[in-house]
Amino acid sequence: MCKLWRNQYKKRSFTLFESSTPSSSSSTNPTKMIALISIFFVSFLTPEVSAVIGGDLNCTTYNGTFFVWTPAAVGCNNVISDSSCAILYPTTDALGLPAAGNNAGRPLACYTTATATPAAIVPDMKTAALASCPKTCGFCCNTDAYNCKNVDFPRLNCATITRSQCDSVTWRTIIAADCPSACGFCGQGGCVDAVTNCGNDLSICQNVGLQSFVNQYCQKTCGRCPSTTTSGYGGITGGTCSSYIADSSSSCSAWASNGFCTNNFYTYAQRRARCATTCRLC
Ligand SMILES: *[C@@H]1O[C@H](CO)[C@@H](O)[C@H](O)[C@H]1NC(C)=O
Ligand SMILES: *[C@@H]1O[C@H](CO)[C@@H](O)[C@H](O)[C@H]1NC(C)=O
Repeated sequence: MCKLWRNQYKKRSFTLFESSTPSSSSSTNPTKMIALISIFFVSFLTPEVSAVIGGDLNCTTYNGTFFVWTPAAVGCNNVISDSSCAILYPTTDALGLPAAGNNAGRPLACYTTATATPAAIVPDMKTAALASCPKTCGFCCNTDAYNCKNVDFPRLNCATITRSQCDSVTWRTIIAADCPSACGFCGQGGCVDAVTNCGNDLSICQNVGLQSFVNQYCQKTCGRCPSTTTSGYGGITGGTCSSYIADSSSSCSAWASNGFCTNNFYTYAQRRARCATTCRLC
Protein backbone atom coordinates (compact mmCIF):
# COMPACT_ATOMS: atom_id res chain seq x y z
CA MET A 1 0.00 0.00 0.00
CA CYS A 2 2.70 2.42 1.04
CA LYS A 3 4.75 1.51 -1.99
CA LEU A 4 1.85 2.08 -4.34
CA TRP A 5 1.21 5.38 -2.67
CA ARG A 6 4.81 6.48 -3.09
CA ASN A 7 4.92 5.46 -6.73
CA GLN A 8 1.81 7.42 -7.41
CA TYR A 9 3.19 10.39 -5.58
CA LYS A 10 6.37 10.26 -7.68
CA LYS A 11 4.46 9.81 -10.90
CA ARG A 12 2.25 12.75 -10.24
CA SER A 13 5.02 15.14 -9.44
CA PHE A 14 6.86 13.96 -12.52
CA THR A 15 3.80 14.58 -14.69
CA LEU A 16 3.43 18.03 -13.27
CA PHE A 17 6.98 19.02 -14.09
CA GLU A 18 6.75 17.49 -17.49
CA SER A 19 3.54 19.26 -18.39
CA SER A 20 4.67 22.62 -17.06
CA THR A 21 8.07 22.79 -18.76
CA PRO A 22 7.13 23.11 -22.45
CA SER A 23 5.02 26.26 -21.98
CA SER A 24 7.59 28.66 -20.61
CA SER A 25 5.19 31.60 -20.63
CA SER A 26 2.67 29.92 -18.37
CA SER A 27 5.13 28.29 -16.02
CA THR A 28 5.76 31.67 -14.46
CA ASN A 29 2.08 32.40 -14.10
CA PRO A 30 1.54 32.53 -10.32
CA THR A 31 -2.08 31.38 -10.45
CA LYS A 32 -1.08 28.32 -12.38
CA MET A 33 1.78 27.63 -10.01
CA ILE A 34 -0.59 27.75 -7.06
CA ALA A 35 -2.98 25.45 -8.86
CA LEU A 36 -0.17 23.01 -9.57
CA ILE A 37 1.10 23.15 -6.03
CA SER A 38 -2.36 22.53 -4.63
CA ILE A 39 -2.87 19.56 -6.98
CA PHE A 40 0.51 18.38 -5.77
CA PHE A 41 -0.60 18.46 -2.15
CA VAL A 42 -4.05 17.07 -2.79
CA SER A 43 -2.50 14.09 -4.51
CA PHE A 44 0.01 13.81 -1.67
CA LEU A 45 -2.70 13.71 0.95
CA THR A 46 -5.26 11.58 -0.88
CA PRO A 47 -3.26 9.11 -2.91
CA GLU A 48 -6.24 6.79 -3.40
CA VAL A 49 -7.54 9.12 -6.11
CA SER A 50 -4.92 7.45 -8.28
CA ALA A 51 -7.00 4.44 -9.17
CA VAL A 52 -10.34 5.97 -10.00
CA ILE A 53 -12.10 5.95 -13.32
CA GLY A 54 -13.13 9.54 -13.75
CA GLY A 55 -14.53 11.70 -16.51
CA ASP A 56 -15.74 9.11 -18.95
CA LEU A 57 -17.56 6.11 -17.53
CA ASN A 58 -18.16 4.24 -20.78
CA CYS A 59 -17.59 0.48 -20.42
CA THR A 60 -17.54 0.58 -16.63
CA THR A 61 -19.87 -0.82 -14.02
CA TYR A 62 -20.33 0.04 -10.35
CA ASN A 63 -19.25 -2.85 -8.13
CA GLY A 64 -20.73 -1.45 -4.95
CA THR A 65 -17.62 0.50 -4.03
CA PHE A 66 -15.95 1.65 -7.24
CA PHE A 67 -16.56 1.97 -10.92
CA VAL A 68 -14.58 -0.88 -12.48
CA TRP A 69 -14.00 -1.99 -16.07
CA THR A 70 -16.43 -4.46 -17.57
CA PRO A 71 -15.00 -7.45 -19.47
CA ALA A 72 -16.39 -5.87 -22.65
CA ALA A 73 -14.29 -2.75 -22.04
CA VAL A 74 -11.17 -4.63 -23.03
CA GLY A 75 -12.71 -7.49 -25.01
CA CYS A 76 -11.26 -6.56 -28.40
CA ASN A 77 -7.91 -5.94 -30.03
CA ASN A 78 -6.33 -2.61 -30.76
CA VAL A 79 -6.48 -1.68 -34.45
CA ILE A 80 -2.86 -0.53 -34.46
CA SER A 81 -0.14 -2.27 -32.48
CA ASP A 82 -0.31 -2.41 -28.69
CA SER A 83 3.11 -0.80 -28.47
CA SER A 84 2.01 2.15 -30.61
CA CYS A 85 -1.10 2.49 -28.46
CA ALA A 86 1.06 2.54 -25.33
CA ILE A 87 2.92 5.52 -26.76
CA LEU A 88 -0.16 7.35 -28.02
CA TYR A 89 -2.20 6.66 -24.90
CA PRO A 90 0.21 6.43 -21.99
CA THR A 91 -1.20 5.61 -18.59
CA THR A 92 -0.22 7.50 -15.47
CA ASP A 93 -2.07 5.10 -13.20
CA ALA A 94 -0.14 2.88 -10.80
CA LEU A 95 -2.51 0.04 -11.72
CA GLY A 96 -1.53 0.27 -15.37
CA LEU A 97 -4.04 -0.06 -18.18
CA PRO A 98 -7.74 -0.84 -17.88
CA ALA A 99 -8.41 -4.54 -17.29
CA ALA A 100 -11.65 -6.34 -16.49
CA GLY A 101 -12.60 -5.70 -12.87
CA ASN A 102 -9.89 -3.20 -12.02
CA ASN A 103 -10.35 0.53 -11.67
CA ALA A 104 -7.23 1.88 -13.34
CA GLY A 105 -7.90 5.36 -14.68
CA ARG A 106 -8.49 5.54 -18.41
CA PRO A 107 -5.44 7.06 -20.13
CA LEU A 108 -6.35 10.73 -20.40
CA ALA A 109 -5.51 11.10 -24.07
CA CYS A 110 -8.25 8.55 -24.82
CA TYR A 111 -10.98 11.06 -24.14
CA THR A 112 -9.66 14.48 -23.28
CA THR A 113 -7.03 17.08 -24.05
CA ALA A 114 -6.70 17.84 -20.34
CA THR A 115 -3.65 16.60 -18.47
CA ALA A 116 -5.31 15.89 -15.14
CA THR A 117 -8.70 14.84 -13.83
CA PRO A 118 -11.39 16.07 -13.63
CA ALA A 119 -11.19 16.34 -17.38
CA ALA A 120 -13.84 17.41 -19.86
CA ILE A 121 -14.71 14.83 -22.51
CA VAL A 122 -13.57 15.82 -26.00
CA PRO A 123 -15.65 13.76 -28.47
CA ASP A 124 -13.02 13.88 -31.24
CA MET A 125 -10.42 12.39 -28.89
CA LYS A 126 -12.79 9.53 -28.09
CA THR A 127 -13.54 8.91 -31.74
CA ALA A 128 -9.85 8.74 -32.60
CA ALA A 129 -9.09 6.42 -29.67
CA LEU A 130 -12.00 4.15 -30.54
CA ALA A 131 -10.75 3.83 -34.11
CA SER A 132 -7.15 3.04 -33.21
CA CYS A 133 -6.69 1.79 -29.65
CA PRO A 134 -10.04 0.64 -28.22
CA LYS A 135 -8.46 -1.94 -25.92
CA THR A 136 -5.77 0.29 -24.43
CA CYS A 137 -8.45 2.92 -23.84
CA GLY A 138 -11.08 0.55 -22.42
CA PHE A 139 -13.51 1.46 -25.20
CA CYS A 140 -14.14 -2.00 -26.69
CA CYS A 141 -17.76 -1.95 -25.52
CA ASN A 142 -18.37 1.03 -27.80
CA THR A 143 -17.07 -0.66 -30.95
CA ASP A 144 -19.43 -2.00 -33.62
CA ALA A 145 -18.76 -5.56 -32.50
CA TYR A 146 -20.59 -4.84 -29.24
CA ASN A 147 -23.42 -2.78 -30.64
CA CYS A 148 -26.25 -4.87 -31.99
CA LYS A 149 -29.49 -6.31 -30.76
CA ASN A 150 -29.64 -9.65 -28.99
CA VAL A 151 -32.47 -12.01 -29.95
CA ASP A 152 -35.85 -11.62 -28.31
CA PHE A 153 -35.77 -15.00 -26.59
CA PRO A 154 -32.19 -15.78 -25.70
CA ARG A 155 -31.52 -19.19 -24.21
CA LEU A 156 -29.31 -17.66 -21.58
CA ASN A 157 -29.24 -14.38 -19.70
CA CYS A 158 -27.27 -12.08 -22.01
CA ALA A 159 -26.55 -9.66 -19.16
CA THR A 160 -24.61 -12.11 -17.02
CA ILE A 161 -22.34 -13.68 -19.63
CA THR A 162 -18.74 -13.76 -18.46
CA ARG A 163 -15.56 -13.36 -20.47
CA SER A 164 -14.68 -17.00 -19.94
CA GLN A 165 -18.02 -17.97 -21.48
CA CYS A 166 -17.16 -15.81 -24.50
CA ASP A 167 -14.10 -18.01 -25.01
CA SER A 168 -15.71 -21.31 -24.07
CA VAL A 169 -16.27 -24.09 -26.60
CA THR A 170 -19.53 -24.89 -24.88
CA TRP A 171 -20.94 -21.40 -25.04
CA ARG A 172 -19.50 -19.47 -27.96
CA THR A 173 -21.84 -20.63 -30.71
CA ILE A 174 -24.91 -20.22 -28.54
CA ILE A 175 -23.84 -16.75 -27.49
CA ALA A 176 -23.10 -15.76 -31.09
CA ALA A 177 -26.61 -16.76 -32.08
CA ASP A 178 -28.48 -15.34 -29.09
CA CYS A 179 -26.43 -12.67 -27.31
CA PRO A 180 -23.89 -11.38 -29.85
CA SER A 181 -23.51 -8.02 -28.12
CA ALA A 182 -22.34 -9.71 -24.90
CA CYS A 183 -19.08 -10.97 -26.41
CA GLY A 184 -18.41 -8.63 -29.30
CA PHE A 185 -19.84 -11.08 -31.84
CA CYS A 186 -21.98 -8.52 -33.68
CA GLY A 187 -21.49 -8.58 -37.44
CA GLN A 188 -20.56 -12.29 -37.44
CA GLY A 189 -23.96 -13.30 -38.77
CA GLY A 190 -24.67 -15.29 -35.63
CA CYS A 191 -21.88 -17.76 -36.34
CA VAL A 192 -18.42 -18.00 -34.78
CA ASP A 193 -15.80 -20.70 -34.41
CA ALA A 194 -16.49 -22.73 -31.28
CA VAL A 195 -12.76 -22.91 -30.59
CA THR A 196 -10.80 -19.70 -30.76
CA ASN A 197 -7.68 -20.81 -32.63
CA CYS A 198 -9.03 -22.42 -35.80
CA GLY A 199 -7.26 -19.76 -37.85
CA ASN A 200 -3.80 -20.89 -36.68
CA ASP A 201 -3.64 -23.50 -39.43
CA LEU A 202 -6.05 -22.99 -42.29
CA SER A 203 -5.07 -26.31 -43.85
CA ILE A 204 -7.36 -28.06 -41.35
CA CYS A 205 -10.33 -26.82 -43.38
CA GLN A 206 -9.21 -29.03 -46.30
CA ASN A 207 -8.00 -31.98 -44.28
CA VAL A 208 -10.20 -34.94 -45.14
CA GLY A 209 -9.77 -36.52 -41.74
CA LEU A 210 -10.81 -33.35 -39.90
CA GLN A 211 -14.08 -32.56 -41.63
CA SER A 212 -16.39 -33.51 -38.80
CA PHE A 213 -14.17 -31.57 -36.41
CA VAL A 214 -14.10 -28.38 -38.47
CA ASN A 215 -17.79 -28.61 -39.30
CA GLN A 216 -18.49 -28.48 -35.59
CA TYR A 217 -15.73 -26.31 -34.19
CA CYS A 218 -14.41 -24.08 -36.99
CA GLN A 219 -17.54 -23.07 -38.82
CA LYS A 220 -16.53 -19.46 -39.31
CA THR A 221 -12.94 -19.98 -40.34
CA CYS A 222 -13.73 -22.88 -42.67
CA GLY A 223 -16.87 -21.36 -44.16
CA ARG A 224 -19.25 -23.89 -42.66
CA CYS A 225 -21.77 -21.46 -41.20
CA PRO A 226 -25.35 -22.45 -41.94
CA SER A 227 -26.92 -19.98 -44.34
CA THR A 228 -29.64 -19.02 -41.85
CA THR A 229 -28.10 -18.95 -38.43
CA THR A 230 -30.43 -16.43 -36.91
CA SER A 231 -33.40 -18.73 -36.71
CA GLY A 232 -32.02 -21.88 -35.20
CA TYR A 233 -30.14 -23.32 -32.32
CA GLY A 234 -26.44 -23.08 -33.12
CA GLY A 235 -27.14 -23.81 -36.74
CA ILE A 236 -29.98 -26.30 -36.32
CA THR A 237 -32.52 -24.30 -38.20
CA GLY A 238 -36.16 -24.44 -37.35
CA GLY A 239 -37.31 -22.24 -40.18
CA THR A 240 -37.90 -18.54 -39.99
CA CYS A 241 -40.54 -17.09 -37.76
CA SER A 242 -40.75 -14.03 -35.60
CA SER A 243 -42.43 -15.60 -32.58
CA TYR A 244 -42.52 -19.04 -31.01
CA ILE A 245 -45.16 -20.96 -29.14
CA ALA A 246 -44.62 -20.83 -25.39
CA ASP A 247 -42.53 -23.46 -23.64
CA SER A 248 -44.75 -26.01 -21.97
CA SER A 249 -42.07 -26.95 -19.47
CA SER A 250 -40.44 -24.65 -16.94
CA SER A 251 -37.21 -26.66 -17.14
CA CYS A 252 -36.35 -25.67 -20.71
CA SER A 253 -33.39 -23.48 -19.89
CA ALA A 254 -31.82 -26.24 -17.78
CA TRP A 255 -32.52 -28.79 -20.49
CA ALA A 256 -31.15 -26.45 -23.16
CA SER A 257 -27.87 -26.12 -21.31
CA ASN A 258 -27.69 -29.91 -21.30
CA GLY A 259 -28.17 -30.01 -25.06
CA PHE A 260 -31.88 -30.76 -25.28
CA CYS A 261 -32.42 -28.38 -28.17
CA THR A 262 -29.79 -29.99 -30.36
CA ASN A 263 -30.00 -33.57 -29.22
CA ASN A 264 -31.30 -35.72 -32.06
CA PHE A 265 -32.41 -38.31 -29.53
CA TYR A 266 -35.53 -36.18 -29.32
CA THR A 267 -37.49 -35.49 -32.46
CA TYR A 268 -38.02 -31.99 -33.73
CA ALA A 269 -41.71 -32.32 -32.81
CA GLN A 270 -40.89 -33.38 -29.25
CA ARG A 271 -38.46 -30.54 -28.75
CA ARG A 272 -40.90 -28.06 -30.24
CA ALA A 273 -43.79 -29.33 -28.12
CA ARG A 274 -41.88 -28.77 -24.89
CA CYS A 275 -39.49 -25.90 -25.50
CA ALA A 276 -40.34 -24.12 -28.74
CA THR A 277 -39.34 -20.71 -27.40
CA THR A 278 -36.17 -21.76 -25.64
CA CYS A 279 -35.04 -23.86 -28.59
CA ARG A 280 -36.42 -21.30 -31.04
CA LEU A 281 -38.26 -23.83 -33.13
CA CYS A 282 -40.96 -22.42 -35.35
C1 LIG B 1 -20.56 6.98 -23.15
O1 LIG B 1 -20.08 7.89 -24.12
C2 LIG B 1 -21.08 8.61 -24.81
C3 LIG B 1 -20.40 9.46 -25.85
O2 LIG B 1 -19.34 10.19 -25.30
C4 LIG B 1 -21.89 9.43 -23.81
O3 LIG B 1 -22.93 10.11 -24.47
C5 LIG B 1 -22.49 8.52 -22.76
O4 LIG B 1 -23.15 9.28 -21.77
C6 LIG B 1 -21.39 7.71 -22.09
N1 LIG B 1 -21.97 6.77 -21.16
C7 LIG B 1 -21.53 6.66 -19.92
C8 LIG B 1 -22.19 5.62 -19.09
O5 LIG B 1 -20.64 7.35 -19.48
C1 LIG C 1 -14.58 -3.25 -6.44
O1 LIG C 1 -13.43 -3.07 -7.21
C2 LIG C 1 -12.26 -2.70 -6.47
C3 LIG C 1 -11.15 -2.38 -7.44
O2 LIG C 1 -10.88 -3.44 -8.29
C4 LIG C 1 -11.90 -3.83 -5.51
O3 LIG C 1 -10.77 -3.45 -4.75
C5 LIG C 1 -13.08 -4.06 -4.61
O4 LIG C 1 -12.80 -5.18 -3.79
C6 LIG C 1 -14.33 -4.34 -5.42
N1 LIG C 1 -15.48 -4.41 -4.52
C7 LIG C 1 -16.39 -5.37 -4.61
C8 LIG C 1 -17.50 -5.30 -3.64
O5 LIG C 1 -16.33 -6.26 -5.45
